[in-house]
Amino acid sequence: MEQRRDHQDNCYAGPQDAACDSCTGRKRKAVKSCLVCLVSYCEDHLQPHYDSPNFKKHKLVDPSKKLQENFCSRHDEVMKIFCRTDQQCICYLCNMEEHQDHETVPAATERAEKQKELQESRQQIHQRIQDREEIVNLFQQEVEAINVSADKAVEDSEKIFTELIRLLQKRSSEVKQQIRSQQETEVSRVKGLQEKLEQEITELKRKDAELEQLSITEDHNQFLLNYPSLPALRESTHSSRIKIRPLRYFTDVTAAVSELRDKLQDVLRDTWRIISLKVNEVDDLLSEPETRTELLRCLQEITMDPNTASIFLLLSEGNRKVTLTNQQ
Ligand SMILES: *[C@@H]1O[C@H](CO)[C@@H](O)[C@H](O)[C@H]1NC(C)=O
Repeated sequence: MEQRRDHQDNCYAGPQDAACDSCTGRKRKAVKSCLVCLVSYCEDHLQPHYDSPNFKKHKLVDPSKKLQENFCSRHDEVMKIFCRTDQQCICYLCNMEEHQDHETVPAATERAEKQKELQESRQQIHQRIQDREEIVNLFQQEVEAINVSADKAVEDSEKIFTELIRLLQKRSSEVKQQIRSQQETEVSRVKGLQEKLEQEITELKRKDAELEQLSITEDHNQFLLNYPSLPALRESTHSSRIKIRPLRYFTDVTAAVSELRDKLQDVLRDTWRIISLKVNEVDDLLSEPETRTELLRCLQEITMDPNTASIFLLLSEGNRKVTLTNQQ
C-alpha cells in the first residue's frame, strides 16, 4: 500500500518538473513536450499523439518547462522565424511589422546552419583535445624517464660513495697496522739495548766487587799475584752508539695523514662543483631538444575558411587570425 501511494505521488509534478498541460486539477508529470502543440503531456494525455495519424508530423521532445519561451511576448504567437539582422527569433506578425526589411529565414533553416557550425566547432575542439592528450602522454612518458634515470643515478652514486668510504676505511686500517708494526720493532730494539746495558751494569758491578776484594788484601805478594789476572776494562760497545732522539717518533705520520685529508677535501670541493653542474644540466638536456621537437610535431598551422565563417567573424593575417565583431 505504502509503495503504491509513493508511486502515485511520484506521478505528480513537483516544483522541479514540467507539468502536463492537459491535466485538470492536480497536474501529473509530463513525459513529453510537443513542439507543434507547444504543450507538455503526461503519459495518458500523450497517447492520442501515438494513436492518431493527425499528430504524425508533431515533434515530441523530452518534457520542458520552457515551452513558453517559444511564444512571442508581444503577439503571443509561436516564433518560427529567425531574424538574422537582429539575431533573434520572431513570430510571423513581428516579421510583417518591425522586421519587415530585415533578413529573415525559417528558424529551422537557421538552426540547421548553426548546427553545422557547431558540429565544426566540436570537431576542432576534439582535434585540440586529442593533440593535448598526446602531449600529456608524452609528458607522462617523460616523467617516467626522469624517474628511472634519477633512481639509477641515486643508486649508482650511493654505490660509488660506499666504495669510497670502504677504500678510506681500508687505508685507515692499513696505516694503523703499519704504525703498530713499526711501534713493535722500535720498542723491541730499545728493549734489546736496555737489556744489554743492564747486563753490562751487572758485569761492572761484579768486577767492582772483585777489585774491592783485592784492594783490601793485606798480603802484598797475594795482591801482586792476583793483580795481572784481572781483565782489562773493555770499552762499552753500546753506550757510545745510542743517541736519544727528540720525542717525535710518529708525529710525521699524523702530518702526512692530515695532508691526505686536506688534499681529499680539495678534490671533493672541486669535483662537487662539477657534480652540481651536471645535476643542474639535466634540465637543459630534457627540454632541448627532444621535448621541443615533440611539441613542434604536435603543433598545427590553422587557416580559417572565409566561405564557411560566420558573418560576424573578421578574418585577417592570411585567414589565420579571427576576431569577433558586431558588424557583418
Ligand atoms: C615519479 O616520481 C615522483 C617522485 O618520487 C612520484 O611522485 C611519481 O609518482 C613518479 N611517477 C612515475 C610515473 O613513476
